[in-house]
Amino acid sequence: MKTRFLLAAGLIGLVLFSSCGRSDAPAGTAPAATADDLAQGRAVFERVCAVCHQATGAGVPGVFPPLAGSEILAAADPARPIRIVLHGLQGPLTVRGGTYDSVMPAQGAQLNDAEIAAALSYARGAWGNRAGPVSAEAVRTVRATVKRDTFWTWDDLVRATPAP
Ligand code: HEC
Repeated sequence: MKTRFLLAAGLIGLVLFSSCGRSDAPAGTAPAATADDLAQGRAVFERVCAVCHQATGAGVPGVFPPLAGSEILAAADPARPIRIVLHGLQGPLTVRGGTYDSVMPAQGAQLNDAEIAAALSYARGAWGNRAGPVSAEAVRTVRATVKRDTFWTWDDLVRATPAP
């Protein structure tokens, strides 16, 4: 009886302890991605994003910017990557010291919130990237509150979002 009580108290403590850590996660990031989330994210990434950014995340120099090692994708606050995927991005851009001046079409019409969150979460943790996963809730909020009918430019995006 006593052992059971201790076990239960221990489990409750563990749950409380692990949920405490979660409040430190930057806004818009999810607490943790399960193996299922990552598998779903990888599937979306390889179906949709890899055509341009490549399955290795390396991109194509001068044409498609890299996601591996990208300071934009792997910023602690995912506000900018979420907007880029939902609404698209065009014009001059510097990623990892390389310059680009191209167009990424908006993906918001063909991908739902969970798919965008999963693809971003996968990419933010793949190829040496070490940024936290993105929640579907964060994508839903941006979709509901930010209306855009043209692709972002980098300058617009910087003005519209806090420094990550
Ligand atoms: C049709 C090609 C294409 C597809 C599909 C595409 N992108 Fe992009 N992406 C681009 C281009 C081109 C840019 C740079 C646009 C510019 O020059 O302003 C870009 C920029 C980005 C950036 C910011 C720059 C960087 O390297 O970090 C992120 C993040 C990003 N894309 C993520 C994604 C994700 C995630 C997907 C899939 C959901 C995706 N893209 C699908 C072409 C594409």
